[in-house]
Amino acid sequence: MKTIIEPFRIKSVEPIKMTTRKDREEYIRVANYNLFSLHADLVLIDLLTDSGTSAMSSEQWAGILRGDESYAGSKSFYRFHRAVSEIMPFDNIIPTHQGRAAEKILFSVIGGEGKKIPNNTHFDTTRANVEFSGAEAVDLVIEEGKDPQKLHPFKGNMDVLKLEKFINETGTENIPCVMITITNNSGGGQPVSMENIREVSHICKKYDLPLIIDACRFAENAYFIKIREEGYSNKSIKDIVREIFSYADGCTMSAKKDALVNIGGYLCLNNDDWATQARNLLIITEGFPTYGGLAGRDLEAIAIGLEEILHEDYLQYRIRSTEYLGEKINAEGVPIVLPVGGHAVYIDAKAMLPHIPTEQFPGQSLAVELYLEGGIRGCEIGTVMFGEAAQMELVRLAIPRRVYTQSHIDYVIEVIINVYKNKDKLKGMKFTYEPEVLRHFTAQFEYVD
Ligand code: F0G
Repeated sequence: MKTIIEPFRIKSVEPIKMTTRKDREEYIRVANYNLFSLHADLVLIDLLTDSGTSAMSSEQWAGILRGDESYAGSKSFYRFHRAVSEIMPFDNIIPTHQGRAAEKILFSVIGGEGKKIPNNTHFDTTRANVEFSGAEAVDLVIEEGKDPQKLHPFKGNMDVLKLEKFINETGTENIPCVMITITNNSGGGQPVSMENIREVSHICKKYDLPLIIDACRFAENAYFIKIREEGYSNKSIKDIVREIFSYADGCTMSAKKDALVNIGGYLCLNNDDWATQARNLLIITEGFPTYGGLAGRDLEAIAIGLEEILHEDYLQYRIRSTEYLGEKINAEGVPIVLPVGGHAVYIDAKAMLPHIPTEQFPGQSLAVELYLEGGIRGCEIGTVMFGEAAQMELVRLAIPRRVYTQSHIDYVIEVIINVYKNKDKLKGMKFTYEPEVLRHFTAQFEYVD
């Protein structure tokens, strides 16, 4: 087997500003030890998120210039519509400015007091939008999906027994739809199998409930199906993607992930009545239904991104390079969520730093140390983010698409291993300012003595 190379050449570069540990000690102190408060140019390798951080191709940039900015019925909208229909053939396709706008509109139409919406695991914005409508968000991922060390090829699967029990207990009149998130971001970027999607769809049909897919990382999920699920190794990614969506009645999409763009999203629905209500809301919040909060040029870039994401060379490189990072650090003893997911490596800070109690934020301490040691910015997903509800203390290193090369990743590996060697010296942290909501974004910290 030869080295899997980045299947692209680099045409335009963005310089990285080099800094020393001493510089970074000052920068992070001024930022009150909150990585969200850092100016991005003081970061060497930015792994805060894979969302909206993709490098666009020269074709996409050419599309940006071709974008038709007509207010209504622009050529770019029709190109976008064709590209989405090609793989997600739903009756109504409604552009929005990003994924959460599609969620907000959907749950304004179908959510509300007394309603319950099951999902494998709701992503934070999905949960927030369900709850904002007055409905309840219920997570029904399989048990394996909750154990960071447990190996399972499709840890994002929905527990179908629990789903059926939930439907019987809740009553179909209180369940406006069933959702599946592919890949399951909050569970570590873990894929869902085709078999599971099919089973969930059977249950939905049996009880006459619509199935809505949170489609952000649909192509990464399709690639996992191709390499891990029996019967799919000879199928094209496009056929696998079409099969996935054939089981659903709609989807919400953040184009900032697998459509390889910096902004954008959409909502797809087969139900014409819901779609009419959604378009009415769209007009008062996002814009006219043929642009929905985006410029024509953005729609053009999404259309091209949706074609490029299906390339198998790209997906092989993408999934393997994330796995490569996880494998190398895990081989040196660094505890991570296994198996490695599609878009990110999650370090288990609780297992790595047993001397730091959860109330002293082991994930935050580790995230800050990765910045100090190597200028790497990751994201704490633990007690800082979720408070006492946190089930794990993780640091997510999300890999932007087509942005970093293997030597960047090798550097990240070296930094993590250095930090791991000195892990016993890391200290716990405490709040010096604790905001009431979404505290991870604006909290301030210092070290515990
Ligand atoms: N659903 C999932 C599974 C997501 O991962 C995200 C965003 C959204 C919905 C919302 O989409 O950001 O376009 O409004 N995830 C980003 C992340 C923010 O860093 O994981 P959006």
